Amino acid sequence: MESEAVDVERLRADFPILSRRVHGKRLVYLDNAATTQKPQVVIDSLVRFYTSYNSNVHRSVHTLGEEATAAYEGSRKKTAEFVGVQARDLVFVRGTTEATNLVKFAWGEKNVKKGDLILATTMEHHSNIVPWQQLAKRNGATLKYVGLNPDGTLDLGSYETLLKDAPRLVTLTHCSNVLGTINDVAKLCSMAKNAGATTLVDGAQSVPHMPVDVRAVGSDFYAFSGHKMLGPTGIGALVARKDLLEEMDPFQTGGEMIREVFDERSTWNDVPYKFEAGTVNIADAIGLGEAVVYLRSIGMGRVRDHEMKLLDYAIKELTAVKGFKLYGPENVRVRAGVVSFNYADVHPHDLATILDEEGIAIRSGHHCAQPLMRWLDVAATSRASFHVYNSYDDIDALKAGILKAGGIFKI
Ligand SMILES: Cc1ncc(COP(=O)(O)O)c(C=O)c1O
Repeated sequence: MESEAVDVERLRADFPILSRRVHGKRLVYLDNAATTQKPQVVIDSLVRFYTSYNSNVHRSVHTLGEEATAAYEGSRKKTAEFVGVQARDLVFVRGTTEATNLVKFAWGEKNVKKGDLILATTMEHHSNIVPWQQLAKRNGATLKYVGLNPDGTLDLGSYETLLKDAPRLVTLTHCSNVLGTINDVAKLCSMAKNAGATTLVDGAQSVPHMPVDVRAVGSDFYAFSGHKMLGPTGIGALVARKDLLEEMDPFQTGGEMIREVFDERSTWNDVPYKFEAGTVNIADAIGLGEAVVYLRSIGMGRVRDHEMKLLDYAIKELTAVKGFKLYGPENVRVRAGVVSFNYADVHPHDLATILDEEGIAIRSGHHCAQPLMRWLDVAATSRASFHVYNSYDDIDALKAGILKAGGIFKI
């Protein structure tokens, strides 16, 4: 076993849920691509908000209102700095799905016209497919997909060919939630820009697991979700340049997104507030700020190194199991800590149920990536995905659980 730069045992003590038992067994939580667990500091920040300064933001001059506004805006600043941008470039949203829908409504409706091309990739999550299908249908545009190489990396030849058709929008994931593939988004966005496209990057599986500098990525839009990065559910971010946000129409209307309302018309607040209609998700935004502080205290480089070591170990151990089929690249340098697989002809739901009896939580199904499932020519896969609190012991437990299923199914 390799030495761990991250002190996993010490870290695990920060996550109260990790000490619970499931079916009398130690919880082995390997469903981090779906959502991550929360450290006590994040949970405490929610309790502190509701017990000591619960108030609406940007409205009231009383002490509670000012404290809540300062904490909410402080969190925006921390979250923005975490991904290398300024606070004014970051809109709080519910998560990545709401961010892509915001771009679809507030930018796409106005800018994508009849005959335009929207380019996505075969490895996208439904959240980065369905909004564009809807937009293409409504505005008479065409949606095409960049293909993949057999190892699950993006086919650059296919990309270059499609870029020749001058897409209006190129939208792609930084990191696949199924294959784990990490795309070189800086290069891909620069190619898209040279072809005249606006770019959106889905960072739902990258920001939680590796250092990300959105400025260096160079995309016009960048989206991510708080709940996948040790923060609360219901909060995430859309990052975009101020001038682009200023040009865009509002997404939802009402509440603090206005400057002035007359009987017949209204004017809009400054960005990013123009995109935060109604009472915002104050507590969870504050919780996300705490998650960012926590992740920074570990260091995203160390998070990535740790997950790479786990991935390397998992790939070696699991591919040695007879009947185990791994999907996605085997090179851990271009893969995040996501292990999608099938095991002989055991249905992924059956495997997940057997593993659950051992206290092991994995995901089974299509992972909201049905076009990718069709490309893989499978109905479903099993998926184990890591975060910084996972250990080699968790992978050993997973392997033992798979072998137990193998015994039951006589593989
Ligand atoms: C790559 C990717 N994009 C988008 C999403 C959607 O994120 P959310 O459900 O937080 O909006 C997910 C969630 O699994 C994802 O993995």
